[in-house]
Amino acid sequence: MSYGRCLDSKFNALHLCRGVESSWKQEIPLNVWEYGEGNMKAVICKQWGPPESLVVENIPSLKADKAHVIVKVKACGVNFPDTLIIQGEYQYKPDLPFSPGAEIAGVIKELGQGVSGIEVGDRVLAFIGWGGFSEEVSVPVDKIIHIPEGMDFKTASAFVMTYGTSYYALKHRAQLKFGETLLVLGAAGGIGLAAVELGKIMGARVIASASSDDKLSVCKEYGADELINYSTQNFRSIISEITNGQGVDVVCDPVGGDLSEQAFRSTGWKGRFLVMGFASGEISRIPLNLPLLKGSSIVGVFWSDFIRREKETYAYVLQELTRWYVQGKLKPLISRIYPLEQAALALNDIVQRRVTGKIVLVP
Ligand SMILES: NC(=O)c1ccc[n+]([C@@H]2O[C@H](COP(=O)([O-])OP(=O)(O)OC[C@H]3O[C@@H](n4cnc5c(N)ncnc54)[C@H](OP(=O)(O)O)[C@@H]3O)[C@@H](O)[C@H]2O)c1
Repeated sequence: MSYGRCLDSKFNALHLCRGVESSWKQEIPLNVWEYGEGNMKAVICKQWGPPESLVVENIPSLKADKAHVIVKVKACGVNFPDTLIIQGEYQYKPDLPFSPGAEIAGVIKELGQGVSGIEVGDRVLAFIGWGGFSEEVSVPVDKIIHIPEGMDFKTASAFVMTYGTSYYALKHRAQLKFGETLLVLGAAGGIGLAAVELGKIMGARVIASASSDDKLSVCKEYGADELINYSTQNFRSIISEITNGQGVDVVCDPVGGDLSEQAFRSTGWKGRFLVMGFASGEISRIPLNLPLLKGSSIVGVFWSDFIRREKETYAYVLQELTRWYVQGKLKPLISRIYPLEQAALALNDIVQRRVTGKIVLVP
């Protein structure tokens, strides 16, 4: 038996929910769920492929397993990794068939044996890895977090992954300090826009870079101090100009490809380069003489393993982000909302770089 953490909605503080130890890899795939009464709708991946290969089906409702709860899903955040997991190209490969969807918000419908500290009807969110593009989901109780007061379901379903990853990256991996300069690539995307907002709250001077002026105007609204359009402008010379030749202290890179090396070459002495992801589809090969010459660090960021391995720090990250949300410091941007049946459209928006902030599906 272990204790999972829940954010308490009334007191905005952490309390413990009792549950049986479970890890990401023990997530229950669709094909072994226990079924309950009635039917529910789910978006299902039956074969690896692009968003168009997903199907929407009515399947039997779920029954709560030991130390699990059934959540009636009110909203599901859509994330870049959802576009990879359905193609069998993500770090985790669920057994087929399964439902994608890494983070959900909803209402507790049923409690499994041994669950305490949570009631039917509670408003909750959870980061589950997959299974969320569905009207119901079975979640290990130690992954359940109460939704803070004042946060709606859509926002709750789109909050933890991007803000959590960017916060963990900037604060714990790069140790970003007040007054330092932060360069964010793909700055209008999910990870990028969260990094822009969080960088400003942490007191950094934020340089946002993105592929279009429209995207950059969103970054400006979210507090960016300087803007670079990397489709039309000379990236490195502008950074050199902005920083008086000193380079930036921290780079947040969720894009990869050619931009990574250019950004790394734009770091200053003791710079920290955060490897967040490869939305461009290309993993950069940075020459190792560069970190030597700059006394700088290449720092990996892996959110889902972090929350599995460092539970105390994860709880702290959630607490801090919730506090900032309640104080009105964070304004999560949900730019599009689709019905569950249109999951393929939502995923294609991400693939085709049409998204600012986040997209949410509603059953
Ligand atoms: N390290 C972790 O633990 C962790 C956690 C969550 C996500 N990630 C990864 O971080 C990356 C970004 O995630 P996100 O949620 O921010 O995604 P997103 O909202 O889709 O943003 C990605 C940005 O990358 C840029 N981009 C460049 N080439 C692209 C392409 N070929 N396809 C799509 N986007 C492209 C786009 O900005 P421009 O058009 O402005 O270039 C886009 O806004 C992904 O690789 C994801 O898997 C990592």
